[in-house]
Amino acid sequence: MSTDRRKFLKHFGTSVLLTSASLSSLAAKEEHEVRILRQQKRMSANDRIRIATIGMGIMGFNDTKAALSVPGVELAGVCDLYKGRLAHAKEVYGNDLFTTMDHRDILERKDIDAVIVATSDNWHSQISIDAMRKGKAVYSEKPMVHKISQGLEEIRVQKETKAVFQVGSQRVSSIAYRKAKEMYEAGAIGKINSIEASFNRQSALGAWQYTIPSDGNIQNVDWSRYQANADVKHDFDPKRFFRWRNYREYGTGVAGDLFVHLLTGIHFITGSKGPESIYSIGDLTYWKDGRNVPDVMSAVIHYGETKEHPSFQVTLRVNFISGEGDYGTTKIIGSEGVIDLGGEGDSFSIRKSIMPEAPGIGGWDSLFTYTEAEQKKLLSEYNQRWTKAQQESPTIDPITYRAPEGYNSSNDHFANFIEAIRTGKPVIEDAVFGFRAAAPALACNDSYFQKKVIHWDAENMKVV
Ligand SMILES: NC(=O)c1ccc[n+]([C@@H]2O[C@H](COP(=O)([O-])OP(=O)(O)OC[C@H]3O[C@@H](n4cnc5c(N)ncnc54)[C@H](O)[C@@H]3O)[C@@H](O)[C@H]2O)c1
Repeated sequence: MSTDRRKFLKHFGTSVLLTSASLSSLAAKEEHEVRILRQQKRMSANDRIRIATIGMGIMGFNDTKAALSVPGVELAGVCDLYKGRLAHAKEVYGNDLFTTMDHRDILERKDIDAVIVATSDNWHSQISIDAMRKGKAVYSEKPMVHKISQGLEEIRVQKETKAVFQVGSQRVSSIAYRKAKEMYEAGAIGKINSIEASFNRQSALGAWQYTIPSDGNIQNVDWSRYQANADVKHDFDPKRFFRWRNYREYGTGVAGDLFVHLLTGIHFITGSKGPESIYSIGDLTYWKDGRNVPDVMSAVIHYGETKEHPSFQVTLRVNFISGEGDYGTTKIIGSEGVIDLGGEGDSFSIRKSIMPEAPGIGGWDSLFTYTEAEQKKLLSEYNQRWTKAQQESPTIDPITYRAPEGYNSSNDHFANFIEAIRTGKPVIEDAVFGFRAAAPALACNDSYFQKKVIHWDAENMKVV
């Protein structure tokens, strides 16, 4: 092993030694120092916490698993509007599991402390409010609301009931995001000026064409409850139920599905309360399956200067038919470097680039267009004025920080939620934070559909 490598294996307050497995993957990335982040200590189980999941689809199953990874948590019930998912919940968690198609049955039960709201976006706000009013702690999937107009009421109910309320954008609990925030605050990239963030996909499943079950019919789906709160009602169509993301009536398009993750991470790292103005464009270019939301969307968002941060610009993009393949990133760019977070938020790298003090002379410059004598004179003056060191940019090797193999930020996000229930400590992603990320994401839809710039008062959380 080279001394250099040995040297960097020996240290790091916040890091652990690399394993042989990580060393082999490191070989391919010789130029990068890789630091494996250390997981936080878990609280031990003192009180038993009984949870129920409302909305037992993809995320319902995933969230339930993550919640049950926290010691002392038990599953007491499940609610869903499709019978097949209730039957599968019993297959996974046992025949005695309480199941229902009406979320109010869950909320009436005194033996349930907390609910996970993992329904389609159209039900998040109402079920969360109903649950808080019934004294339950709530873990609401993102986006916190379906419409911007729902946010302040939900915050008001949370304040009134003092319910423990966490929004489910797990990247704020990721050890990689925490470390990135620490590095950002320590000035690792100088003064921030812009952020580029995107999700690119290139598959039918990535574009939300999820598998529909053969018995997904009106006998097995409570369709009237599903669209009870929709402004415009439609006849039953399994696509509208099982692929709800494609319809504005129930989902929030790529903005509410994916921009919200990007903005959550950005607000977490920069400490921002939100932007001032939002403009968005979109097209339905490829997935013309009846959906009424774009499959390619770009937004330009301006964050004004506040006491938390200087002004900066954000560009967001989702492309569901991207020839770049499945790839996402968040690049936070400052005057002296970039924090480059991968799509899933489990790792990031910092690349520094610092300008030399001297402005430079020669190369792509007007110097060569002057007479030989003039060029000589200017060069000699320049070399007298600036030392060699001042003429060069310092070289700083990039560093990659990575969560350990198998790390799951959702487990940490649930650990944070359960700890708040047990100890009364604040959650990491409360209703105000959740709404401040959701609203500008949803404003991207409003901008696109209304073809105008949306102005946002982030402090008071109002469209202006
Ligand atoms: N945090 C993340 O990384 C992440 C990832 C994916 C999805 N999500 C969010 O999770 C939510 C669910 O997404 P999904 O992919 O699991 O959807 P899904 O379609 O797989 O599941 C949604 C389930 O909610 C049920 N449902 C709808 N309205 C209901 C109601 N009123 N009462 C009871 N059940 C109801 C449906 O029957 C369905 O089974 C979405 O809001 C989505 O934005 C978050």
